Amino acid sequence: MEYTIAITRQEERKVKDSAVVPFGTQPTEHMFICEYKQGQWHNPRIVPFGDLTMSPFALCLHYGQTVFEGMKAFLMEDGKINIFRPLKHYERFVKSLERMCMPAVPQALFIEALHQLIQLDGDEMPTDPEASLYIRPFMIASEERIGVKVAEEYLFMIVCSPAFPYYSKPLKVKVETEFVRAAEGGTGYAKCGGNYGGALYPSQMARNEGYDQVIWTDAKTHEFIEESGTMNLMFFIDDVLFTPPLSGTILDGVTRDSLLRLAKDMGINTAEMAISYKEIQVALEAGKRVEAFGAGTAAVIAPIEIIAIGDKQYHCYTGQDATMFKLQQALLGIRKGTKPDTHNWNYIL
Ligand SMILES: Cc1ncc(COP(=O)(O)O)c(C=O)c1O
Repeated sequence: MEYTIAITRQEERKVKDSAVVPFGTQPTEHMFICEYKQGQWHNPRIVPFGDLTMSPFALCLHYGQTVFEGMKAFLMEDGKINIFRPLKHYERFVKSLERMCMPAVPQALFIEALHQLIQLDGDEMPTDPEASLYIRPFMIASEERIGVKVAEEYLFMIVCSPAFPYYSKPLKVKVETEFVRAAEGGTGYAKCGGNYGGALYPSQMARNEGYDQVIWTDAKTHEFIEESGTMNLMFFIDDVLFTPPLSGTILDGVTRDSLLRLAKDMGINTAEMAISYKEIQVALEAGKRVEAFGAGTAAVIAPIEIIAIGDKQYHCYTGQDATMFKLQQALLGIRKGTKPDTHNWNYIL
């Protein structure tokens, strides 16, 4: 089914400061919005970015039916705009929505809305070669009613923001063995707001101790590594790229998936397997070269410099010749159009 999206343009485009702005602080000029009522999506439209009005009874404000995505568009070498793997993000969005009893957005509507919005606001992408446009599709339960129930009315929206690299310096992280992000049977694999709210307190405690993030461990044994903040985790040890397998408790990261495929293309051995933090500790104590990094849309690749396990701190390898940077360059090359897009990941406007 084709969707016609009405567009109301901002009357006067604001002159924006082109300097680096902190992540997620500056919206682009327009946003997409669409309402779900009586089993149908209504009135898809692009309007000037602005506030929402909503009843204090809106269900999303109370019971957590909120789901979002985080994706990026890049400026290619030839000046075209490339939205990276929108279909993979769409699939994950639908999976998250299903877990939260929220209605799927039709694929054609999702893609058309993205296309039109980025076409309109793509020129707000910073020209810095490391920069991109962050795209945030999200859905919230808008039905006015106090009382726990599955909502019957929703808003689906897309907003964008210029993005510079997320973490500027290598990270210092600690293995978390007390608090839990997600347990089997829970919502860990869904990109729903509650997962992030629940992670704030342990992350804040880690920050108070001088760490950037925690490394989450599994809920049953607190031994197996899960993920970190808004990133999947990867390790390069003994010429193998290790990452925890997809399960119900971690997010199926698009960056994770992309890096695994690129590693295979580059002839690097990969292993998606349960990794105990104790195995990492043994490798570090044996003096092996261990690369550890986070992989995610916002951060792309975030090298980890220090891992704290209990009261010990270990140094990981972050030298320029690290394999993680080769993978990062390979991914960047595809996004920028300087390397062939052999997996059809680019959606070029
Ligand atoms: C909890 C969590 N894990 C992993 C990721 C990485 O996923 P992606 O590479 O799709 O951005 C994210 C980012 O969205 C996240 O929020």
